[in-house]
This record gives sequence, C-alpha cells and structure tokens, in this order.
Amino acid sequence: MSLTVRHVTDADIPGVVALVADRIGEEDAPEAQLVLEDAEYDRRRWTVAVDGDRVVSTMGTYPMCARLGDLELPAALVEFVATATDYEGRGLVRRQFDYHHTDLLQRDELLEVMVGITYFYRRLGYEYALPVAPWQEIPSGDVPDVPEGWTVRVAGETDRQTIRDLQRPIQNSTDLSIGLSDQMWSFLLRSPVYDTLLAEHRGVPQACGRIYLHEDDPYVMDLAGGSRDGLLAILAGVGSRNPGRNLTVLTRPEASPNLDDLGSLSETGEAYYARIGDPLRWLNAIRPVLSSRLSASSLAGEKGEGMISLYASSIRFPYANGEVGEFTRGPREQAPISKGGSGVPPDLMTSLLAGPLGFVGLAERHPDMNGGSQQELMSVLFPPLTLDVQTWVVP
Ligand SMILES: CC(C)(COP(=O)(O)OP(=O)(O)OC[C@H]1O[C@@H](n2cnc3c(N)ncnc32)[C@H](O)[C@@H]1OP(=O)(O)O)[C@@H](O)C(=O)NCCC(=O)NCCS
Repeated sequence: MSLTVRHVTDADIPGVVALVADRIGEEDAPEAQLVLEDAEYDRRRWTVAVDGDRVVSTMGTYPMCARLGDLELPAALVEFVATATDYEGRGLVRRQFDYHHTDLLQRDELLEVMVGITYFYRRLGYEYALPVAPWQEIPSGDVPDVPEGWTVRVAGETDRQTIRDLQRPIQNSTDLSIGLSDQMWSFLLRSPVYDTLLAEHRGVPQACGRIYLHEDDPYVMDLAGGSRDGLLAILAGVGSRNPGRNLTVLTRPEASPNLDDLGSLSETGEAYYARIGDPLRWLNAIRPVLSSRLSASSLAGEKGEGMISLYASSIRFPYANGEVGEFTRGPREQAPISKGGSGVPPDLMTSLLAGPLGFVGLAERHPDMNGGSQQELMSVLFPPLTLDVQTWVVP
C-alpha cells in the first residue's frame, strides 16, 4: 500500500497520540491530544503519513509572533516530529516538511523556529541561527523567600492575556523577538507538562514564569516581570513547590539583570534552529526596517543598485536617500565581487537576517560571506541583532 501524506483528521488522533508517546515521550502525548482536539487549532497545520489507516509519521506547526523593530511578523514553531521505527528512512518527514514549508508561506509565516534533534534539521533547511540565552543556576540554598506583600499562584488559561502583557516589555526590548502567540499560551496553560506561575502584589499580577520538571529538577522559562520583587516571588514559588531542588532559569534580556546576584550563569553553546522560508519575501517585508537602518547610517545620502549573490541565484535592490527599494530575484552570479556585488551562502541567510552576528560577524567566519565593495552597505543593512526567543520545550 502506498504511503500518503495529508493533514490530520479526527480518525487519526489516537494513532498520532500513540506515535508521539512511543517516539517522543509519554508526557508529550497528552499535549498532542490537547492541540488536536482544540477546535481553534487549524488541522491543516498538523500532518500525518498513513499506511492504510495506520499513522506512521507525524508533525505539526504552531503560530508564533515575531517582531523586528516596529514590524510585527507572523512566525511559526515546529513540534511533535516523529516516525514509527519501522517506517524510518523513507523520506516521510521530508515529505511532510515540504507540505508545511508551502503551507507556512501561504500563511505569510516566513520565519520558523524550533528545538530538535541535533544536526537532523539542517538536512531540512534549518540553521542554528539563534543562540540560546545563558541559563542561571540557583542552588536550592539561594532560592529566595516570597517578598512581603506578594502571593504566587498557578495561572490558568483565563490568565493568558495577562501573561502576554507581562511578556511584552521584554519582547520589545530586543531588536528581534520571537514570542509565544495567544494560541500557544492557550495550549501551554492547559498542558499537564508545565505549570505557569503568576506573582501578584496586592492582587495585581506583576510577574510570571513557566516551570518544566526534568527528573524533578525545575527549569524556569518565559520569566517576565517589571520588578525584582516580582521575579523573586516567582522563583520563591518555584522553590516552595520543589523543596531542596536547584533552580535553572533561562535568562532574558530585561529580566535577568535583576537577578544577577543569585547563583551563576552557564552558557551551553546551544542554538535554536531557524529558517526563513523565502528570503526575498522576508527582505521585502522588512524594507521599512532596512530603510531606517540605511537612513540612520553614513550611507543615508548614497544611491545605487545593490546586488547580493546567493551563488545559485541573486537578489537585486535599488537604494537612494535612505530608502531601500523593492528586492527582486536575479540570475546566478558566480563571481559577484567582480561585479560590485556581495556573496551570501544561502544556508547562512537566516543567520544573516535574524541572527546576532550580523554581516560583519558572519563574514569573519565564512569565506563565502563576502561584502566586496558593498561591505559597508551590507554591514549597515544587516547589523548584529539582540534577541528574545521563546519555544514550547526547554531549548
Ligand atoms: C528523526 C526522525 C523524525 C526521522 O524521521 P524519518 O521519517 O526517518 O526521516 P526522513 O526519512 O524523512 O529523513 C529525511 C532526511 O534526513 C536523514 N536523516 C534521518 N534521520 C537522521 C538523523 N538522525 N540525522 C541526520 N539525518 C537523518 C534521512 O537520511 C533523509 O535524508 P535525505 O532526504 O537526504 O535522503 C525519526 O527517526 C524519529 O521519529 N525519531 C524519534 C523521534 C524524535 O526524536 N523526534 C524529534 C522530536 S523534535
């Protein structure tokens, strides 16, 4: 019988849940079920490969919210990728990614982020473009008490707007943020795997954080709040629910400075996978940001025709008076430098457009990332970015 790839239906749900339990983990299965039984979740986002009526491979995408400068950009997360052991190596995951890459472009979700199997997703077009922030390790003896006047409780789905409001200042503090959407928070707040804590001062919610237990050790993600006391209240809440355990907290741009004196920082060298599905469309979508970078630079008064070779194809764009014009596709340019253009390897495009190294940092590391006589223009248009990234699972 032939193997068919299609979006999930009601009848597939038990098979998907069993496959997720078998290949990813028992604790993940109820989350898959929760998503698939949610009437608000668009089932075209979740695919299966079936052999007859047996589900033998599966994966899903979920809406995320990205922001670059003042631009809000739809984005996506990939999760729950699994193939039955006896069907591995037949291209079923690759076929599903082909489906989703088309589907995501139709949704304008040009930027994808994920956490997953080491190296594997490079094969499917993803780059390790976005480093994971340092973790703060707080020994159990250093976990604070709840500050005077604060209370901590587990948040429910009805708190999701409050939680999103608490996340926003942090997300707005970086050049690029990729944040959990309203629907993602709806799933996470109902998930049996996580507890999201809300700290309230005189009944007003002011801080939150999401806890994952790994072998009884608490990991804290999405920590957010405007005051040190609020963040301490969250950590105290985590500590009192997990007495005697060390806390591991994912640091964030605005939240972490308040807590520097607790424990120590640990850099893991990990990175999120990311992929910009159509770099040309992304460049056109972010033209206002590119123009503001240009107009704020020493090239503000310059005018010209830019050319970026992706080696197998190229991208061209006009610029003048601090404005970047429309990006269009051009032919293959094997030797762009000799024609006044720059070279960018396509498998580093997401790192260039969304990563923390910028053009200069990447060019220092990769001989085929080359500015040529456009070096300054490339540095201005693609600076190093500060980041805040959220994902479903612990990165
Ligand atoms: C990893 C997994 C999803 C691969 O599924 P699959 O259906 O066998 O994948 P495909 O056959 O579509 O493989 C796609 C490509 O990746 C390659 N590949 C498969 N597993 C790989 C691995 N672990 N590392 C590197 N490459 C791998 C295949 O050879 C294939 O290459 P090609 O298209 O160039 O020939 C599957 O082995 C699995 O379910 N693992 C356990 C579950 C899991 O850990 N899920 C991830 C949670 S994020």
